[in-house]
Amino acid sequence: MKNLTSETLRQLYLKFFADKGHKIIPSASLIPENDPTVLFTTAGMHPLVPYLLGEKHPEGKRLTDVQKCVRTGDIDEVGDSSHCTFFEMMGNWSLGDYFKEEMIPWSFEFLTSPEYLGIPVKDIAVTCFAGDSDCPKDEDSAKIWQKCGILPENIYFLPKSGNWWGPAGTTGPCGPDTEMHIIRNHAAADKLNAYQFDDAPSGTFLEIWNDVFMQYNKTADGKYEPLKQRNVDTGMGLERTLCILNGKSSVYETDIFEGAIAKIEELTGHTYNESDEVTRAFRVVLDHVRTATFMLGDVKGIVPSNTDQGYILRRIIRRAVRFGRNIGLPQGALKEVSATFVKKYAEVYPELKANSAHIYEELEKEETKFSKTLQQGIKEFEKVLAALPAGGTIDGVTAFHLYDTYGFPVEITSEMAREKGLGVDVKGYEAAYAEHQAKSRAGSEQKFACGLADHKEETTNLHTATHLLHAALKKVCSPDIEQKGSNITEERLRFDFNFARKLTPEEVAEVERLINEQIALDIPVVMKEMSLEEAKAQGFTGLFESKYGERVKTYSIGEFSKEICGGPHAEHTGLLGTFKIAKQENVSAGVKRIKAILIK
Ligand code: ALA
Repeated sequence: MKNLTSETLRQLYLKFFADKGHKIIPSASLIPENDPTVLFTTAGMHPLVPYLLGEKHPEGKRLTDVQKCVRTGDIDEVGDSSHCTFFEMMGNWSLGDYFKEEMIPWSFEFLTSPEYLGIPVKDIAVTCFAGDSDCPKDEDSAKIWQKCGILPENIYFLPKSGNWWGPAGTTGPCGPDTEMHIIRNHAAADKLNAYQFDDAPSGTFLEIWNDVFMQYNKTADGKYEPLKQRNVDTGMGLERTLCILNGKSSVYETDIFEGAIAKIEELTGHTYNESDEVTRAFRVVLDHVRTATFMLGDVKGIVPSNTDQGYILRRIIRRAVRFGRNIGLPQGALKEVSATFVKKYAEVYPELKANSAHIYEELEKEETKFSKTLQQGIKEFEKVLAALPAGGTIDGVTAFHLYDTYGFPVEITSEMAREKGLGVDVKGYEAAYAEHQAKSRAGSEQKFACGLADHKEETTNLHTATHLLHAALKKVCSPDIEQKGSNITEERLRFDFNFARKLTPEEVAEVERLINEQIALDIPVVMKEMSLEEAKAQGFTGLFESKYGERVKTYSIGEFSKEICGGPHAEHTGLLGTFKIAKQENVSAGVKRIKAILIK
């Protein structure tokens, strides 16, 4: 195997595929273009979806690149030897051109040829798709691998959960794949039969490359339709491959992190290898500062905030600060660590250097914000701990207090609790959050005469539209949807509700269609007073029940919407105009927000 630096590995990959007729294209932004289904670019194929679906790419049918990616699903795992939230994916694509017969031998050549990676054949295991009702077993790939020289005992078969590349969002191009793994523990691997790959003890294999044979488009109703063209989409993890080639036990020990490790050692007086705990803290800081540097330095740079990408960035920076404190990283040091990455990537990602002043400023701002309250917050957290029995659970109101007063994202509270063997009532946290929203709404009503206290025609109409939205979301998304907060101004409504993800474009369209249908039908909005018991029995929904007296006002819009509410409302739906969802936002893990308007 070769000793390669990250710079050489990128070049080698691009050259290999350029020599095979591929055009080298630049990495796209980390923030996806026109795609509400994902927050970040998660794979090299993501920016190429339109071309995988059949649109013509200006550079032709064979492309190769190194794409910046972010995946935060496993953020809690960061600190071990292989997880990173940011990584680079080297990839190549056939847009309706070559297929398995060419791709697998090329993968074999790149991995094993002494001119390229020179990995011994006996150290490579591959997995192929085992087949199901959507797509047959991929015998072809297994045969091609064997012909290339992969040992038959190192060929495994996995079902969809293992050997299928799904779309980046919920819909899109997909297909069976074949994955290439380095065998790191031969004794353990030797015990497995062809279908037992997943039974291997952890650390037996390390996946480095994935060749996807894209033949299907997954539609919104979960069907797999054959694609117009058969594509190849591959992705090789740069950091993992470097780690293997250089015989390192962790991706953090590759040249990418050398400068940053030296900087943290200098700033803290600790050494990276000192103890497991110190190594973990180093890795979290390394990973998170690198990710934050790329997010802030992106051409479509994002800044820390409380929603969407900005919230993830905030969480990442705050987590870096918290772990940094454990090893004595002084305040203001994140930008110094960030500078080592700006330097390391100066040639490959010049946008980092170009935006460095902005990166450092935002890191500093967020760090200061968080540091101000961190010490106090940790003290408060310890007080909470002291009052809890071993194995207890931090209640939602306390978790919300830690967020509201000390800026601890609930995920950080959960993680700190887990470290002490405790739980957090996340549902309770969400309820406390929603109640807080409702209270601030009540406050703003008094201040600005807005929301329920405001009888202006615009706000009254938007209030009725809020009921229609609530009912439509229950029908389109889930009957379990409940209001978690609402705020109305003259211009727009804002509605918070319990849902794990943003609505897909299809769901947005359907919600709008249902509501506009009710408006077109010009249905009277009927108010009736009745007892709370009676209202419940008749199926009226109401959230803050404890706040109601014995008798309540109920509003119904035909059979479509039935809510307990103080009003006021439009007299009939025809007054509303056209309903349109203007924006979706993330409030917290399980609470989403919709802002909507009425167009006259
Ligand atoms: N899209 C494939 C992956 O990310 C190559 O694994």
